[in-house]
Amino acid sequence: MCDLYIMEAVMKKVLVALFALGALVSNVAMANADLAKSKNCMACHAVSNKVVGPSFKDVAAKYAGQKDAEAKLVQKVIKGGVGVWGQVPMPANPQVSEADAQTLVKWVLSQK
Ligand code: HEC
Repeated sequence: MCDLYIMEAVMKKVLVALFALGALVSNVAMANADLAKSKNCMACHAVSNKVVGPSFKDVAAKYAGQKDAEAKLVQKVIKGGVGVWGQVPMPANPQVSEADAQTLVKWVLSQK
C-alpha cells in the first residue's frame, strides 16, 4: 500500500516535469516560427512545401550533417543569393540582424 502511494506521487512529478518540458520546447518552436513570420521569410518560404523559395524541410535535409552549413546559410539569409535551388534569387534581408539570422537558420535546419 505504502509503496504504491509513493510510486503514484513519483509518477505524478515525472508527468508534471515532462509536461513542463514539452510546453517549453513548443514555446521555443512557436517563437522561432513567429520570428520567421515577422522577418517576412514566410512570404517566400513554408516549412513543408516550396513557395518561391525551397521548403525549410528541404533545406534541412540538404544540409543535414554539414557542420559549416549554419555559418554559410546565416550569410546567405542576410545577403541573399541565387543558384543553389534554381534561378530565382533570394533578395538580401538587411532587416535581419546576424543574431536573428542565426536563430532562424538553426530553426530552419531543425525542421524534419
Ligand atoms: C523574396 C522571397 C524570399 C524571401 C523574403 C526569403 N527567401 Fe529564403 N530563399 C528564397 C529563394 C528564391 C531561395 C533559393 C535561392 C537559391 O537557389 O540559391 C531561398 C533560399 C533560402 C535558404 C537556403 C539557402 C541555400 O543556399 O541553400 C534559406 C536557409 C532561406 N532561404 C532562409 C530564409 C529566411 C530565414 C528568410 C527570412 C529572413 C528568407 N529566406 C526570406 C526566397 C526568399
